[in-house]
Amino acid sequence: MKRIALATSAKLPTLNDDDRLLIPALAELGLGAVPAVWDSPDVCWEEFQGVLVRSCWDYHHRLEEFLAWVSRLERAGVPVWNAPAVLRWNSHKGYLRDLAARGVPIVPTRWLARGRRVDLARLLRDERWSDVVVKPAVSASATDTWRTSAATAGVDQSRLEELLRAGDVMVQPFIDEVRDPGEWSIIFLGGRFSHAVRKRPAAADYRVQWEFGGTAAPMAPPARLVADAAAVMAALPGHPLYARVDGVERDGRLMLMELELIEPHLFLGWDADATGRLARVLAAFVTRP
Ligand SMILES: Nc1ncnc2c1ncn2[C@@H]1O[C@H](COP(=O)(O)OP(=O)(O)O)[C@@H](O)[C@H]1O
Ligand SMILES: [Mg+2]
Repeated sequence: MKRIALATSAKLPTLNDDDRLLIPALAELGLGAVPAVWDSPDVCWEEFQGVLVRSCWDYHHRLEEFLAWVSRLERAGVPVWNAPAVLRWNSHKGYLRDLAARGVPIVPTRWLARGRRVDLARLLRDERWSDVVVKPAVSASATDTWRTSAATAGVDQSRLEELLRAGDVMVQPFIDEVRDPGEWSIIFLGGRFSHAVRKRPAAADYRVQWEFGGTAAPMAPPARLVADAAAVMAALPGHPLYARVDGVERDGRLMLMELELIEPHLFLGWDADATGRLARVLAAFVTRP
């Protein structure tokens, strides 16, 4: 029987509830799937026919180590999905600039390089942004993501400096659509649109992540948005096995917030067929010569 490792993190040794759905679905197709902690010294990765990156929700805290692990698998000839080059490209949100250069509408962003000295209040004045979100260019789950405004930027200056000591930083205008109607996650499996959810923050928050009280509901996006998300997929280098296109609808078009190709929650349990679909796509990738 072929065996696949479903890579996860030490905090979720048996995967998150959603990814765990894959195990019986893969078994039905004759594929053994075993959760394996990506940074565990006890896993022999060469024993597997491939590694599917899943609940590795701590990768952004230790990016270098994570990418070194990916490179080790690559050198050992162990197939990894998504492919190592795709994982590397997607690990820094600078990929949004590549996509914008290929015509994808993204959230307006000021990119601040690590170590730079930047006056936050002046940046807001120059851009005429009254409310902004500040976040690291390497992040997930809204880690170190915060709001500030023209009135509070001076007080938050030291917070920005702290972030800039650690890495590159993004400043964006606050996008109201995230709160209402919410942020779309449009999921592609094997390059094809599979299903979508709309995520909303808790009443007093703007972060849609469940850690902050956010919720997600299955919802069919308008065809226009699916077409825009498909255009994002067409603009990226390589053919990912799974992808989550996150964005908001503005003037009837999708404005991209994030393209998740590393360890996105895929909301498999939110759709009757998604788990089986992902299992079939994976089985096809495994048997591909
Ligand atoms: N420009 C913005 N306007 C409003 N909310 C934002 C903005 N950027 C991020 N957020 C909120 O913060 C969350 C996390 O930011 P995101 O860019 O998706 O990074 P990640 O998911 O990698 O942490 C988003 O899901 C959204 O709820
Ligand atoms: Mg996000």
